[in-house]
Amino acid sequence: MKTSVFAAVSAIAVTGAMTAVAEPQAEVLHWWTSGGEAKSVAVLQQEFADNGGTWTDMPVAGGGGDAAMTALRARVLSGNAPTAVQLKGPAIQEWYEEGVLADISSVAEAEGWADVLPASIAGHMMCEGTWCAAPVNVHRVDWIWANADVLEANGIAMPTTWDEFNAAADKLAAAGVTPLAHGGQAWQDATVFEAVALGILGADGFRKAFVELDMDTLKSDEMVAVFDQMRKMRGYVDDNFSGRDWNLATAMVMNGEAAFQIMGDWAKGEFLAAGKAPGEDFLCASVPGDGFLYNVDSFAMFNVDGDDKKAGQDLLAKLIVGQNFQKVFNLNKGSIPARVDVALDDFDSCARLSAKDMNESSDNGSLLPSYAHGMALRGAQSGAITDVVTAHFNSDMSSADAVNMLVDAVANSM
Ligand code: BGC
Repeated sequence: MKTSVFAAVSAIAVTGAMTAVAEPQAEVLHWWTSGGEAKSVAVLQQEFADNGGTWTDMPVAGGGGDAAMTALRARVLSGNAPTAVQLKGPAIQEWYEEGVLADISSVAEAEGWADVLPASIAGHMMCEGTWCAAPVNVHRVDWIWANADVLEANGIAMPTTWDEFNAAADKLAAAGVTPLAHGGQAWQDATVFEAVALGILGADGFRKAFVELDMDTLKSDEMVAVFDQMRKMRGYVDDNFSGRDWNLATAMVMNGEAAFQIMGDWAKGEFLAAGKAPGEDFLCASVPGDGFLYNVDSFAMFNVDGDDKKAGQDLLAKLIVGQNFQKVFNLNKGSIPARVDVALDDFDSCARLSAKDMNESSDNGSLLPSYAHGMALRGAQSGAITDVVTAHFNSDMSSADAVNMLVDAVANSM
């Protein structure tokens, strides 16, 4: 008798506890819509579902995330923020200052994030000492991708200086191959620009110009040389570049229409999703010059009502930094794990090169945040720079005029 009463009481207690546990819900805003990106985010959706979560997808197409950020602003202004948002760099702290981000410190502490994330990455995820974002990966921006057969057929090796790049591009153009696959969208112009700038200014010059906004560097002769090289790049793209999406530019390299693309390693996600193999079908190399431009994708949780949504945020944060997700997601995405304790044995040669270069550049002070991908500057400043880069790329503006415009734009943005 005693036993059955006890059983009945505990059954009620268990049922009560179960009904009190909210089912995790998450509406997730992101811009991962290309082939490789969609395959990658599907890993998170699956893990979320496997752990009892219900995922409402809010994809906003548009490489680099400009359209997604516009959509986010509209949602937050209307008082209806999504549960979780792909957000990165200083934009995380900008939203925190608006008072709209949730504190995910309890998950971060329970999961020991401080022990498994490099301090440089963890720093981007903190807002006044609390954890306000969860990192997904480390993308490298300063890459050149190439079609292996096209280079071989034209007797060209991966360039190691900008002069070599220009000589290769001239040769390819003479042979009727588009040297540089590019999409004329402001963020893609900025991506090429910062890769060129890293090569020409060097790591210290890049930091002064695009992290510290040092006026002397912004108006230097070296910066004039950066725009000179951008003018050359403009001559290496095909006539239909305007408005082209980045993944269509990657496809041009894949199918041999173009030889090179300068793009972050999400481009590798496209090659891999299309069944192409690094070292065989496509080649990767860092752009001429030293240094490493990092771009860390992360998710921030917005203040929302409802235990189910809060449970969704906790579950998502936990899964995102989890070892399994960091491995499987990054194998698809083209990036490397943000966690330091994920073995790279299953990763390809480009990923291993990225990890090696990241460690070396961290040791020698040339590990730098990407300005073009929102890791280095607040939106007003990075936007001001990109406007000049795009205005120059899409006109016959001289390099000297571009530098003057750059200096004015940055000064006015502060
Ligand atoms: C993001 C990548 C994304 C790329 C193209 C970058 O800013 O960090 O995750 O794949 O944009 O959309």
